[in-house]
Amino acid sequence: MSKGLVRSGPDLFSFKIELDLAEKPLMTQNKFKKNILCIGAGYVGGPTMTIIANKCPDYKVTVVDISEERIAAWNSDQLPIFEPGLKERVLKVRGKNLFFSTDIDEAIDQADIIFVSVNTPTKNFGEGAGKAVDLQYIEQTARRIKENSRSNKIVVEKSTLPVRAAETLETILHSGANGVHFEILSNPEFMAEGSGVRDMEFPDRVLIGSKDTPSGLAARKELVDVYLNWVPEENLITTNLWSSELSKLVSNAFLAQRISSINSIAAICEVTEADVTEVSKAVGRDSRIGAKFLNAGPGFGGSCFRKDILNLVYLCEYYQLNEIASFWEQVVTLNDYQMERYVKRILQVMFNTLVGKKLAVFGFAFKPDTGDTRDAPAIYICKRLLEEKACLRITDPHALKNAQKDLEGIDSEVEYIEDPYKAAEGVHGIALITEWAEYSKLDYQKIFDKMEKPAFVFDGRNHLDHKALFEIGFNVYSVGKAPLTHF
Ligand code: NAD
Ligand code: UGA
Repeated sequence: MSKGLVRSGPDLFSFKIELDLAEKPLMTQNKFKKNILCIGAGYVGGPTMTIIANKCPDYKVTVVDISEERIAAWNSDQLPIFEPGLKERVLKVRGKNLFFSTDIDEAIDQADIIFVSVNTPTKNFGEGAGKAVDLQYIEQTARRIKENSRSNKIVVEKSTLPVRAAETLETILHSGANGVHFEILSNPEFMAEGSGVRDMEFPDRVLIGSKDTPSGLAARKELVDVYLNWVPEENLITTNLWSSELSKLVSNAFLAQRISSINSIAAICEVTEADVTEVSKAVGRDSRIGAKFLNAGPGFGGSCFRKDILNLVYLCEYYQLNEIASFWEQVVTLNDYQMERYVKRILQVMFNTLVGKKLAVFGFAFKPDTGDTRDAPAIYICKRLLEEKACLRITDPHALKNAQKDLEGIDSEVEYIEDPYKAAEGVHGIALITEWAEYSKLDYQKIFDKMEKPAFVFDGRNHLDHKALFEIGFNVYSVGKAPLTHF
C-alpha cells in the first residue's frame, strides 16, 4: 500500500491493524508479562479476575475450579453468577487474556502469581463446629499447588481466612522441600455483591499484607504493580500478614455491628413511635459516625458476615478473650432476634394465626442486584412462616432457582412465581424482604384490588411509599416505624 493511499484512507489502514490484533490473540504473540492464576471461580474469583484481566491486558489471567459445571458456565453466555456489569467485562477479554479452565495442575505449573479464592465456610462438625472456619478447601489447594509447582511462586490469600493462616499455608507449601520458594501474601477482598464491579474498579482501598523480608517485600511489589494499573497509589495499603488477615474480619464485623445496632434501635422505635429512618438520618449526619450501613432491615444476610464474625469469636475464645468473644457474638445473636421479630410481628398482626393464609414474599436474595441467597434472611423467615402453616408465593427477579434449593423438602406450600403481580393475587399479605428497585415501582392499587381484605404489607426494608400504600387501603407495618392501620 503506497503512502498516498494510506493518507487518503487512514480508517482502512487502522482497521487492518485492529483486525490483525483481533485475529491473533495476545497469548499467541507471547506478549504476556506474567501469568496470574486464580483457584476458585466463585463470586470472588470470577469477578476479581475479570477486572484484573480488563485492567491489565499484558497479564494472562486463568481461573480454575474443581467444579466443571461452574467453569462451563463461565465459558458460556449464562455466567454462573449475576452481577451488574460483569457479563460485558467478561465478554470483552474472555479468550484474549482471561481463561476459565478445569486443568488446575497445568495452570499451577504455568503461574507466577496464584490467588487462592476457594470457599472458607463455617465448620459444621467436630472441634469448633458452628464457629471456626472449615479450612479443608484451603489445605487441599495448598497441597495441590505444592505438588504441581516447578518454579517459584507468589501465593495470594484472597479468601477470607483466620489470623495466621498464612503460617499454615507456608508450612504446607514448604514441606518436603523441592527447591521451590513460595512467598505468601494476604490480599483480602472487600467487594460487596450487587456492586462488585464498581467496588473492584474503584476500591476504597486495596490491602496487601506481606512479610517484612526482602523476598516478602519483592512479592508485595509485584502485586502492587498489578493494582497500580488502575488503583491510585494512595488507595493501596501495605502491612504485615497478620494485620491484613485480621483487618478483613474486623471490617466485616464492624459493618455487621452497625446493622445490628440500628436494628436494635428499630425495635425501640416500633414501641415508642419514633421513626428509625429519621433516627439513622440524624445520627449518621455526625461525620464521626457516617450515614452508610444504618438501614434497618429484617437482619443481615450473605455468605460472609455471620461466618466472619463467628470466625472472630472463635479466635477470641481460642485466646481466652471471653468478654471480647461475647461482645462480637452479640452482633449475631441480635441478627437472629431481628429475623424472628419480623416473623412474630407478622403473626401477631395477622390475628395470631397464619394457618392457610397466603403471603406473597417479595424478594429472596440476601440483597438486591444479586441472585445469591446464601444465609439470606428470607430463608429463615420463610421457614418460620411455613412452620406457622402459611402458604407462600415467593417472587424474586434473579433468585428463584436458589430459593427452590434452599427450601427443598419443605416447600409443598410454596409457589415460586416470577411476576410479582401474579404472586400477590389473592394473598392476605405481602412480606417485602429484599429491596429490589422494581418493587417500589409496582402498581399497588392494582395489587390491592386483587388481594384478600384486610390487606397487609410488611415492609422489611422501608422500601415502599408507606403513606401512598395506606391511602390505597393497605395496613402497613414497616421495620422501625409505627404501623399505619385502618383498624
Ligand atoms: P464460592 O463458593 O462462590 O466459590 C468458591 C469456589 O472455590 C467454588 O466454585 C468451589 O468449587 C471452588 N473450590 C473449592 N475447593 C477447590 C479446590 N480445591 N480447587 C479448586 N477450586 C475449589 O465462594 P466465594 O463467595 O467466591 O468466596 C470465596 C472466598 O472469598 C471466601 O473466603 C469468602 O469469605 C471470601 N469473600 C467473599 C465475598 C463475596 O462477596 N462472596 C467477598 C469478599 C470475600
Ligand atoms: C459484605 C461487605 O459489605 C463487603 O465489604 C465484604 O467484602 C463482603 O461482605 C464479604 O466479605 O463477603 P455483601 O455481604 O456482599 O458484602 O453485601 P452488603 O452490602 O454488605 O450486605 C450484607 C447484608 O447486610 C445484606 O443482607 C444487606 O441487606 C444487609 N444490610 C446492609 C442491612 O440490613 N442494612 C444496611 O444498612 C446495609
